[in-house]
Amino acid sequence: MNQMTNSHILVNAFDYYEPETVADAAALLAQHGNRARLLAGGTDLLVQMKIERLAPDVVISLNRIPGLDRIEVRKDSLDLGARASILSIERHPLVRTHYQALAEACANFSSTQVQTMGTIGGNLGNASPAADSAPSLLAFGATLTLVGPQGERRLPLAEFFVGPGRSALQPGEIITAVALPQPKPGVGSAFAKVSRVTNDIAKANCAVVLTQGAGNLIVDCRLAFGSVAPTPMRARRAEALLIGQAWSEALADAAAEAAAAEVTPIDDVRSTAAYRREAVRVMVSDGLRLAWERAGDEETRRWGDREIGKPGAGETRGCGETQRLGAEEKRQIALRVNGHLQRAWVSPHDLLLNVVRNDLELTGTKYGCGIGECSACTVLMDGKPVLSCLVLAVEAAGHDITTIEGLAQPDGTLDPLQEAFIDYGAYQCGYCTPGQIITAKSLLLENPHPTEDDVRHHLRGNMCRCTGYAAIVRAVLAAGER
Ligand code: FES
Ligand code: FES
Repeated sequence: MNQMTNSHILVNAFDYYEPETVADAAALLAQHGNRARLLAGGTDLLVQMKIERLAPDVVISLNRIPGLDRIEVRKDSLDLGARASILSIERHPLVRTHYQALAEACANFSSTQVQTMGTIGGNLGNASPAADSAPSLLAFGATLTLVGPQGERRLPLAEFFVGPGRSALQPGEIITAVALPQPKPGVGSAFAKVSRVTNDIAKANCAVVLTQGAGNLIVDCRLAFGSVAPTPMRARRAEALLIGQAWSEALADAAAEAAAAEVTPIDDVRSTAAYRREAVRVMVSDGLRLAWERAGDEETRRWGDREIGKPGAGETRGCGETQRLGAEEKRQIALRVNGHLQRAWVSPHDLLLNVVRNDLELTGTKYGCGIGECSACTVLMDGKPVLSCLVLAVEAAGHDITTIEGLAQPDGTLDPLQEAFIDYGAYQCGYCTPGQIITAKSLLLENPHPTEDDVRHHLRGNMCRCTGYAAIVRAVLAAGER
């Protein structure tokens, strides 16, 4: 590993590869072995690199491979490309209707920025016991498609997790898709999570998937959890109490007690084992009631009139040769910033934040934590909020970036959001303000008249050390009205 002398953000240098096919990416991964890491959303890998837990010599980007971000409705399944973003999954109409637990898991996923950048393959790939998408995918019986040097194989997600941070991936294998079987008629589901603050890793999370039959019968039930065992797990003894029985609230409470006894949590920095057990009991009790209620919904019985085989937004770039940028090399990138075409010479380890602040001297974008936790560095990339401290500059090539400097009109007229922040005194030291305004801008672009809850949810990842949240929320609501 090469130590950089002037990198206050990324300390290790690496060779960067941009394959355009999965086969090429897998070949590179097999060739470089443990020295290499895959990059998709970057919200985990770059954090691990910044806190110096990982120092790969090679980074293989999956972001130029066409179609990996698809969400595709098939005759009897929903296929999620490994690079489908958490936000795109949450918003997919079929996910909202048929896989409510997954939609809710994605809605509760860290900050809006991390939801936008993070991918389903990335959330599963590092085999964290706390992965928010894992319980619902386990409960729905998801299957992974893995591609490696030996070709393609399918693996039930239930066989994927083998220990904390350890999975059944073979050397050189890549997750390319997650397939969710079409739920049977009468399925309802729910997800719940408890965490220290809204955008933190779960102390415990839980998915309930339940099938309602005639005569109030529970035909099937799956209870899955995260952060309460070395791997995401199902509580099969508690499930067995429910399956084949007539629904009653007393039965739901008995199953909740059984699930709490079945999980094996630990004490750690985020919680105690005792608290986690109690959280499991409450989440199962509430989740069963909600899933039962939803299972009777007629809408969940319709699948056939969906557009089969129609993928969601996918990459359109063609397949070509793998591009490589050596650790000591630079490449000129072109990107549009605030409406102007800009060029910059960047190394693999340079970040979009550096380019914006240092090369383009747009210092309104702030550097706070550097590890994706404060959102001070938020910019819009193609209209979506991203954390510029976790975006490699080479990956920003060809994209449209908006910083706080780009909001005002050329004649200096401020954006309504900027005016509202002034009018409502929605800043104190002002350090977080550009990130707050840019994130709020992304909300108003898609929802011009948000509710207070919408604003609070969208801005949940933007930290203000001066704690001026109430005024910030008022300012965003006022800007919406204007
Ligand atoms: S999230 Fe980027 S600086 Fe804090
Ligand atoms: S106004 Fe000071 S950090 Fe938000």
